[in-house]
Amino acid sequence: MSTIPQGQSRPFEPAPHQHRQVAESFGVDAERYDRTRPRYPDVLVEAIVAASPGPDVLDVGCGSGSEARQFQAAGCRVLGVEPDARMADFARRTGVQVEVATFEAWDSTGRAFDAVIAGQTWHWIDPVAGAAKTAQVLRPGGPLAVFWHVDQPPPELADAFAAVYQRVLPDSPFNLQPTKQALGGYQALFTKAADGIRKVGGFGDPEQWRFDWERSYTRTEWLDQLPTSGALTRLPSDKLAEVLEGVGAAIDAMGGGFTMPYTTVAVIAARTSTT
Ligand SMILES: C[S@@+](CC[C@H](N)C(=O)[O-])C[C@H]1O[C@@H](n2cnc3c(N)ncnc32)[C@H](O)[C@@H]1O
Repeated sequence: MSTIPQGQSRPFEPAPHQHRQVAESFGVDAERYDRTRPRYPDVLVEAIVAASPGPDVLDVGCGSGSEARQFQAAGCRVLGVEPDARMADFARRTGVQVEVATFEAWDSTGRAFDAVIAGQTWHWIDPVAGAAKTAQVLRPGGPLAVFWHVDQPPPELADAFAAVYQRVLPDSPFNLQPTKQALGGYQALFTKAADGIRKVGGFGDPEQWRFDWERSYTRTEWLDQLPTSGALTRLPSDKLAEVLEGVGAAIDAMGGGFTMPYTTVAVIAARTSTT
């Protein structure tokens, strides 16, 4: 656990949440998204559940329902809020209750929750409006926990992947270039989330939790997941094919597979008062 420096967030401009077409594009292939995206570490889920005063969880941007099902398995009652109806439909078919709306526009109708969570989603939400909406629905003591996976390809692959993106998508507004300091690049995102929470007030000082793990991928497995990246969901098929071919060749050069080190980082703050 660590504290987060204040007021130093200078991430991508315009901010990701202003790219609405991309923000709500993941449902283009909800089945692929759900099948290929990595789950969250059980220790993270357990830590959030332990920090919650009760079992009612609001999952913001629940997508296909992957973390919602993890929290259900941990004994929680989960409501998802999700603006992309295709993702919401998929999640419902897997047993997750979902209301279709952006979080900023969602009407809580006076309901309250013991925890508010968001996996890989908070950067698609206005961080101040999101914290303010959370403050309206979170019971005292309940955590707001927003978390992301940061992948850090082995150095040779990071360079090769970056070269492919630079060649095929030189003008992408998204940072597609895997670097050798991926975690440092994400820190602006974590700090922006913490700044939004502090600005709204009524929360304890945000903490940062970190969980390191790794997963092995074959070329086929990595290429199966790649089209679910926000920066690639709306790409014309010929451009996507070029990316897949280039990335696939880089993995072939590594012997056809690799181990991806991941760090899952959570920014977490407990509600201290009601306003
Ligand atoms: C990368 S996906 C993450 C899905 C899921 N939470 C997970 O971890 O697999 C981001 C999700 O956030 C949703 N989203 C985008 N903008 C949002 C907003 N303003 N409010 C709530 N959800 C939003 C997208 O539709 C998408 O399903």
